[in-house]
Amino acid sequence: MDKLETLAAIALDLTAEISAEDRYDRLLEALHRAIPYDAATLLRVEKNRLIPLAARGLTPDAMGRVYERKDHPRLDIICNSSRPVLFSQDSSLPDPFDGMLAVDPKGLHHIHACLGCPLYVHDKLVGVLTADSLDPGAFNYLPEQYLHTIGLMAGAQMQVADLVKALEDKAKRQGQIASDLMHDVALQRGSDILGQSAVIRKLRQEIELVAKSDFTILVLGETGSGKELVARGIHRHSSRRDKAMLYLNCAALPDSLAESELFGHVKGAYTGAAGDRAGKFELADGGTLFLDEIGELSLEIQAKILRVIQEGEIQRIGSEKVLHADVRLIAATNRDLESEVRDGKFRADLFHRLNVYPIFVPPLRERKEDIAILAGFFIERGQKKLGLEKVRIAEEALALLSRYDWPGNVRELDNILSRAVLKASRTPGKDDLLQIRPEHLAGDLGSAIYVAPARLTEPAGAGQAISFREEVNSFQRKLITRALDHNSGNWAAAARELDMDRSNLHNLATRLGLRKKK
Ligand SMILES: Nc1ncnc2c1ncn2[C@@H]1O[C@H](COP(=O)(O)OP(=O)(O)OP(=O)(O)O)[C@@H](O)[C@H]1O
Ligand SMILES: [Mg+2]
Repeated sequence: MDKLETLAAIALDLTAEISAEDRYDRLLEALHRAIPYDAATLLRVEKNRLIPLAARGLTPDAMGRVYERKDHPRLDIICNSSRPVLFSQDSSLPDPFDGMLAVDPKGLHHIHACLGCPLYVHDKLVGVLTADSLDPGAFNYLPEQYLHTIGLMAGAQMQVADLVKALEDKAKRQGQIASDLMHDVALQRGSDILGQSAVIRKLRQEIELVAKSDFTILVLGETGSGKELVARGIHRHSSRRDKAMLYLNCAALPDSLAESELFGHVKGAYTGAAGDRAGKFELADGGTLFLDEIGELSLEIQAKILRVIQEGEIQRIGSEKVLHADVRLIAATNRDLESEVRDGKFRADLFHRLNVYPIFVPPLRERKEDIAILAGFFIERGQKKLGLEKVRIAEEALALLSRYDWPGNVRELDNILSRAVLKASRTPGKDDLLQIRPEHLAGDLGSAIYVAPARLTEPAGAGQAISFREEVNSFQRKLITRALDHNSGNWAAAARELDMDRSNLHNLATRLGLRKKK
C-alpha cells in the first residue's frame, strides 16, 4: 500500500464532481489502501453530538445512530485533541463501535486498535475520522504526521461537500420557487378581484392597506368565495412582491408529510427521507407563505407552526441546526375557527396569533350586484377556451343567476357558466347567435329555475293580479315549449336540453297541460 498514492487519490477527489455521499465513501475507501482497518467512520460534529456521514466495515445500524460526546469518552477525547489520537490497546475506555464490526457481527472480540483524527476547517472542529481494528498492532507503524495530513484532507473534503451541497440546495430551492411561480402565473390570468359592490370595493381597499404591513393575515370566507385570490392580492401589493409567494394546501396532506413540507427534513430523518429537503418556511424566506385550509391541520402541527411564529426559527426534521426565516404568513380557512377553538379542535394561542388581522370575504349571495360582471368575465373566458365567437347571456338567464343562493360562491358561478357556454354552443339560436338561455342553466340551478317568475320575459303590468303559482307555471310552460321547439318535438331530446329526467319532464308537462295524461 502506498501512502502517497492514497493522499493523491484523496486530493484528486477534492475537485471531482461527485455527490457528498460518494465523496465520503471514496475517502474511506482510499484510506483503506493506506491503513489496514477493519472499520472506519467519518462523523460530523454538531454541538455535542457526532453524526455519521459514512462508514465502512460496520453493521448497518451504526449509520443510523447519533453519538453523544458524553456517552463516548473516546470520541470526546478525539474532539478535544488537535492531533490524531492513537488509543493504547489496553485502554479501558469503551469503543463506540464495539459489537458493530461487520467482520465480527456477534461482538465476540473487543476492538483492540483504535485511532481517531479530529477534522478542522479554519481552526473549527467539523468532524472526526475513526479507524478500528481487531489486530492490536494494526496502526502502530503509521507516522503521526501522515495521519495529521489525512485529517487535514478529510476536513477539506467535508468543506467541499458542504459547499457543493449548499449550491445544490440553492438550485433545488430555486427550482421549487420557480414551480410555485409557474403556478402563480397560471392563476394570474384571473387575478383581479372583480366586482363593484360596496363590500368588494371595501375588500380591495383593505387588501391594499394590509399589504403594506407585515401582519399575519387570516382570510376567512365560505368555500369558493375568493380567499386565495385575496391572499395573492395581498402578496402582489406588498413590498415582498418581487419575492415568491409559496403555497401550501394543508388539507391535502397527512400529518407526517405536512411537517416535512413546512419545515423540511434531512436525509434519513424518517423512512423515505432520501435526501435533504428545504421546507416551505425556509423557501419563502423574504417572501410570503400562504397556508391554505389551515383549519385542517392537526393540533400537533399547529403547535409547531406556533413555535415558528413565536420564535422565527425553523428546524428541518432530524436536524439540530436552527435556521431563521423572514416570512410573511397568510392563512385561509372556510371553517369557523372561533368555534373550532371552543371545541378544542384549534389551538387558541395559534388562533390569536393568526387573527391579528382577519379579512372576511363576503359570500356571493351578499353581493349579487357583482354577478353580471363576474358572469361576463367567465363567459368570455369559456368562449375563448372553446374558440367561439361572441357568446351572450340572455337577460332572463342573468336574472335567474341573481335569484340563486350560490352555496358554492364564485367558483360555482364559474363552473355553471363554463358548462352553459358549452351547452349554448350546441344549440345556436337565430342568425347563429350563441346565447346562454335559462334552460342552459336549468339542471345546475336546481329548484331556483322553477321559482323564477314569468315576469322575467313578460312583465306583468302593475295591478295585474297574477298569482305566484300561475307565474311559475307559465314560465315553466315557456321553457318546455321552447325546448320542444328546438328539438322538433322530441321529448327525450328536450329533457336532455333541460337537463331533466325524462319521466319528471313528462309529469311536469302533464301537470301544466302540455301533454295529455296517458
Ligand atoms: N371577485 C372575484 N373576481 C374574479 N374571480 C373570482 C373572484 N372571486 C373568486 N374568483 C374566482 O373563483 C374561483 C374560486 O376562488 P378562490 O379559489 O380564491 O376561492 P377560495 O375561497 O379559496 O375557495 P376554497 O375555499 O374552495 O378554497 C377562482 O377561480 C377565482 O379566480
Ligand atoms: Mg382556496
